[in-house]
Amino acid sequence: MTVELDWENLGFSYRKLPFRYISYYKDGKWDDGQLTEDATLHLSESSPALHYGQQAFEGLKAYRTKDGSIQLFRPDKNAERLQRTADRLLMPQVPTEKFIDAAKQVVRANEEFVPPYGTGATLYLRPLLIGVGDIIGVKPADEYVFTIFAMPVGNYFKGGLAPTNFIVSEHYDRAAPYGTGAAKVGGNYAASLLPGKYAHDHQFSDVIYLDPATHTKIEEVGSANFFGITRDNQFITPLSPSILPSVTKYSLLYLAKERFGMEAIEGDVKIDELDKFAEAGACGTAAVISPIGGIQYRDDFHVFYSETEVGPVTRKLYDELTGIQFGDIKAPEGWIVKVD
Ligand code: PLP
Ligand code: COI
Repeated sequence: MTVELDWENLGFSYRKLPFRYISYYKDGKWDDGQLTEDATLHLSESSPALHYGQQAFEGLKAYRTKDGSIQLFRPDKNAERLQRTADRLLMPQVPTEKFIDAAKQVVRANEEFVPPYGTGATLYLRPLLIGVGDIIGVKPADEYVFTIFAMPVGNYFKGGLAPTNFIVSEHYDRAAPYGTGAAKVGGNYAASLLPGKYAHDHQFSDVIYLDPATHTKIEEVGSANFFGITRDNQFITPLSPSILPSVTKYSLLYLAKERFGMEAIEGDVKIDELDKFAEAGACGTAAVISPIGGIQYRDDFHVFYSETEVGPVTRKLYDELTGIQFGDIKAPEGWIVKVD
């Protein structure tokens, strides 16, 4: 059973659902965690998460399949990335089993908000790990909160599978060369708010960041990774220690190679070599695959396939990825976790 919502036009907005999961870390260990109806966190005013950004988050989705069942897409990969982020910020790891169990509990408890199959909408899960407690020096917390809340979502970028335009950030980076770019921490997103506002104010979907050391290579989009399809059927996505290792990107690298026989490459994407791409897109959990119509870089506006139509390879990859996520296409071993 689902509630009545305008499933096709959800966009990407917060909606307070009945239940979320919360677990506390104290005296060196996690408690068992539980579901709660309280959507408010009660924290010490001196919590390191608030002052020094000792926090991390994740994003994954639950999908309703044709037979009405619900499934998660590679939640183990989000759990592992949260563990790597936790290591980087000296936070305790959330074990993979606990992470997946919590995700399942939240989906089950809010089952009526998992969008119906065929609407394209999904239930977005937002795991959050924060350092809390009475600490004022710059050092890691002794206590932590791990929570997962959820909301039904549609397209992240307005166009969905229709191309939209992006602008290269020349004057701001989201991360430093040896900083926290590969970790999913709020600070990276705080740094992206100002250039993001500039992009939105100028009718671009989002910002494309260049590598912070040389400003010659594409890193990623503010909220997704970047990929390009060359005229000779290569799938290329940037390799950099300061971008988020996207679960979607690694899934596409696999599908491009194993299912479509493309050459799948993680490597340099030089900003002055955009001509070699027949198509380009942004990929991520929220973004799914969002085709890039054109990129504004300085005075040059570079159009890839078309500003209005999605390219054939991008569409093929989109159909394969979402077919797997919604259970219509056989998934590679281990990619799907059923919520029963
Ligand atoms: N890059 C950034 C900056 C992101 O915020 C996201 C979203 O999670 C991604 C890339 C895509 O990662 P994933 O495919 O794991 O969602
Ligand atoms: C996601 O795709 O899950 C993200 O975290 C992107 C976010 C900026 C909305």
